[in-house]
Amino acid sequence: MKEHSKKLAILQQLSDGQFHSGEALGNHLKISRSAISKHISTIQDWGLLIYKIKGKGYALSTPIELLSSNKVIYKKLPEPVLLGVIDSTNQYLLNKMEDLESGQSCFAEYQTSGRGRRGRSWVSPFGSNIYFSLYWKLENGLAATMGLSLAVGIAVVNALEKLGCSNLKLKWPNDIYWNDKKLAGVLIELSAQSGGAAHVVIGVGINVDLDERFSNEIGQPWVDLKSILKKKNQRNKLANELLSSLHEVMLEFEKNGLSSFIERWKTLDNYMDKHIILQLGTTNIEGVCKGIDAQGAILLDINGNTTSFVGGEISIKKH
Ligand code: BTN
Repeated sequence: MKEHSKKLAILQQLSDGQFHSGEALGNHLKISRSAISKHISTIQDWGLLIYKIKGKGYALSTPIELLSSNKVIYKKLPEPVLLGVIDSTNQYLLNKMEDLESGQSCFAEYQTSGRGRRGRSWVSPFGSNIYFSLYWKLENGLAATMGLSLAVGIAVVNALEKLGCSNLKLKWPNDIYWNDKKLAGVLIELSAQSGGAAHVVIGVGINVDLDERFSNEIGQPWVDLKSILKKKNQRNKLANELLSSLHEVMLEFEKNGLSSFIERWKTLDNYMDKHIILQLGTTNIEGVCKGIDAQGAILLDINGNTTSFVGGEISIKKH
């Protein structure tokens, strides 16, 4: 982290979206203008667009709201670690798991190897989105974790609704959609069990202010909070809402499992009664989506018979 302290300090200055001269930045950080220029090149590799104009200096193409320990202040869980640059917030917690208290979380400004479900990567430009992970020790063990991923999707929806988002939907098992475009994703990773408890890391990525330049890399329809709310970046507020809503959901899930969430999930299901394809390995199964069962498996009506599936990836069947 220390190796990036100068770049992070430059970004602190540039976060207002205004022009800052190389000289002013250099004076502030006590380094030369050419050192500033080198740092700026690396920062651009972090996915930020920086304008350089002769006589004016450097400016970000859009202001960013950096996460701050003065603003992320949810007190009912261990204090979240705010990271600048990290490979993946999930990996950060998985590496430290043995020393962690249940409820420990972290946020990052930038992930160099952010990961998504099914071995995909998760586009993670600096300061643009939320990259969050939470460690939880589930005393009930692995059996409970299937339903967990659905409950977490609901927690993310709840947090986004607190910011004013409406019409949010879920795509089984836990993608968050708005108008058929992906707004957020959840990746739950497990570590080896000890004494029956399951050690889970819940990773959440939410698009907050994502540049169109990343569309090719994402490769599916997506949306960010800025376009939905038409408001400026509120990453610190969203971070607090996410901590609070996930905490509430985890406590309820520990007590009653998925049962308390089934009805809410049904109201959020984006695929209910739609003709879909479930891709299971190399096999495609077609059917009409009939929601989820008590364990969180997806229900498909296949020629009049309803069958449940615990894994796979769903998509709308195109006619
Ligand atoms: C998906 O929809 O494919 C899941 C995306 C999960 C992305 C988040 S970002 C924070 C956490 N760290 C990661 O490397 N991935 C998750």
